[in-house]
Amino acid sequence: MELAAQLESVAIDIVRTAGKLLTNRPETLTFTTKSSAVDVVTQMDKASEDLVASYLATHRPGDGLLGEEGADVTSATGITWIVDPIDGTVNYLYDLPGWNISIAAAREGEVLAGAVYAPFLFGGALWSASRGGGAWLRRGIDSSDAPLALHANADVPLHLALLATGFSYSTQTRIKQGARIAQLIPQVRDIRRMGAAAVDLCLVASGMVDGYFEEELAPWDLAAGELIATEAGALVTNATGGKAGRDMVVAAHPSLHGEILAALARVAGK
Ligand code: IPD
Ligand code: CA
Ligand code: CA
Repeated sequence: MELAAQLESVAIDIVRTAGKLLTNRPETLTFTTKSSAVDVVTQMDKASEDLVASYLATHRPGDGLLGEEGADVTSATGITWIVDPIDGTVNYLYDLPGWNISIAAAREGEVLAGAVYAPFLFGGALWSASRGGGAWLRRGIDSSDAPLALHANADVPLHLALLATGFSYSTQTRIKQGARIAQLIPQVRDIRRMGAAAVDLCLVASGMVDGYFEEELAPWDLAAGELIATEAGALVTNATGGKAGRDMVVAAHPSLHGEILAALARVAGK
């Protein structure tokens, strides 16, 4: 099997294993805060990241690991795993279904494979991709249904587009984001805020929203979902058509993507 496909299988196994851990929600969630009072981390974020670290140490010794909760292992093989042990921790805290585990494998800064698993969304949804190998969705309670090939929605005009977005944990950024949404909402079908960036990117891949934009994403929010959306035919860039990153992520089929960039530029200028 080709390397990217092998890494995709490993990513699927990891998210399924971590998904089992996270589905067994403890009676009491203890949490601390990070960048602001509304940015929380629970004992389960840490337990999920620890599980990924020990899985990799056993099954992929020598691979590197970059995790949101502090895992930082230098790679001896050239492959580094980028993990968000719970993406959508606020959903997890409130027992809302959008939380997921997101993991990607990268070599020399290029993501080769990734998987995103939301056990309680759509009766279980496991998205995955390998570079050049397409994007796939397995549904069902244990995500064991036959994989479906994914395609982002094409030929949706902006005024009929359903767009997902997310909001930062920083009050200053939220002021800017709120003003932007007020300008944008009359121009589109509607806006969705699911509370999990990795799922938002997978929803673009699945045609369950038409586009997505958000700023201030970290590598672990973006790595797997960006590949999954790209492999489903979406274009994923920053606000000026360059590499998607902390400044901005815009994901949509190429037939809509330019219109979203233009709309964001118009509202930013007001
Ligand atoms: C957050 C979620 C949220 C997005 C934030 C992310 P976390 O990740 O993906 O939807 O709006 O930008 O930081 O903190 O739950 O892993
Ligand atoms: Ca996240
Ligand atoms: Ca997280």
